[in-house]
Amino acid sequence: MEIAREIPSTRALARQWRGAGHSVGFVPTMGYLHEGHLSLIERSVAENDKTIVSIFVNPTQFGPTEDLEAYPRDLQADLAICESARTDLVFCPAAGDMYRPGSSTFVEVGGPLSAGLCGASRPDLFRGVATVVTKLFNIALPTRAYFGQKDAQQLAVIKRMAEDLDMGIEIVGCPTVREVDGLAKSSRNSYLTPEQRAAARVVSRAVFEGERCIAAGERSPGQIVDAMRKAIEAEPLARIDYIEVVNAHTMEKLDRIEGRVLGALAVFVGSTRLIDNFILEV
Ligand code: PAJ
Repeated sequence: MEIAREIPSTRALARQWRGAGHSVGFVPTMGYLHEGHLSLIERSVAENDKTIVSIFVNPTQFGPTEDLEAYPRDLQADLAICESARTDLVFCPAAGDMYRPGSSTFVEVGGPLSAGLCGASRPDLFRGVATVVTKLFNIALPTRAYFGQKDAQQLAVIKRMAEDLDMGIEIVGCPTVREVDGLAKSSRNSYLTPEQRAAARVVSRAVFEGERCIAAGERSPGQIVDAMRKAIEAEPLARIDYIEVVNAHTMEKLDRIEGRVLGALAVFVGSTRLIDNFILEV
C-alpha cells in the first residue's frame, strides 16, 4: 500500500493507473476509521482495479464554534485498517497543502438540497464538503467514488454536484453500518461518555419508529415526525436539533408521503451532535 502526503505524487499515480486502463475507486474520509468507512473501502476494492482512500479533516466544513480541533485522529490505526482492506493508496495531505495561501475558490450546490436539514444548522458544511470533494476528485481522478447513506444529504449534494459539473464520476451510495444496538457508526461516537452512549440509542430508535409508521400505512409527514420526536423526548439526555421528512432527491418538504422519502434527524446527546436517517420508496 502506498502512502502519499503530497498532491502531485498522488495525482501522478492516479493518472498512471487511469492511463493503463485501470478503474479507480475513491473513498474520501476524515479518518478515525470504523466499520462504516470499511464497508465503503471494501465495496470500492471489490468493484475497481485500484482503490484510493483519503484521510483529511477538512477545516472548511467546520463552523467557527464546531469541533475541528477536537475531531478524533489516529493515523496509524487508520493506515492499518486501509492496509488490511487491500487499499492501494492512502492520501493524507497536510491542511496547508490543501488550502494554500490565497486560496479563494469554493464550490456551492445551491437551492434546497443544501439549505435545509444539516445545511440549516451548519451553514458552512456543504460548501466546505463540495469544495474539498471537488479538490480530492481532481487529485484522485476516480472512476467511481463511494459515500455513505448515513450522511444522506451529503450524498445527495455530491451526486448533484458531480452531475451539474460534468465530472464524469459515478457516485455510489452505500448503506449505513450500525452498532449492535442500532446506533449508526460514527467517528463522533467516541465523544460520548458511557451514560451518553446508552442514551444515544434513541436516535436509531426514532429512525426505526419513522420507518415503522410508514410501513403501517401512515402517510402524513407531520404524524411521522411526531412519532420520531416522541421517541427522542423519552430520553432526557437527548435534545432535538431537527427531525424532518423530505423528498430524498431534492430535500424539499412533503405534503404527503410518496416517492423516495428521506426521514432525517440530528440530535444532541450532551454536546455531541448525532445524525441518522431512513430512506424508503413508497
Ligand atoms: P467522514 O465522516 O469520515 O465519512 C466518510 C464517509 O464514510 C462518508 O461518505 C460517510 O457517509 C461514510 N460513513 C460514515 N459513517 C458511516 C456508517 N455508519 N455507515 C456507512 N457509511 C458511513 O463524510 C465525511 O467524512 C466528509 O464530509 C468528507 C466526505 C470526507 C469530506 O470531507
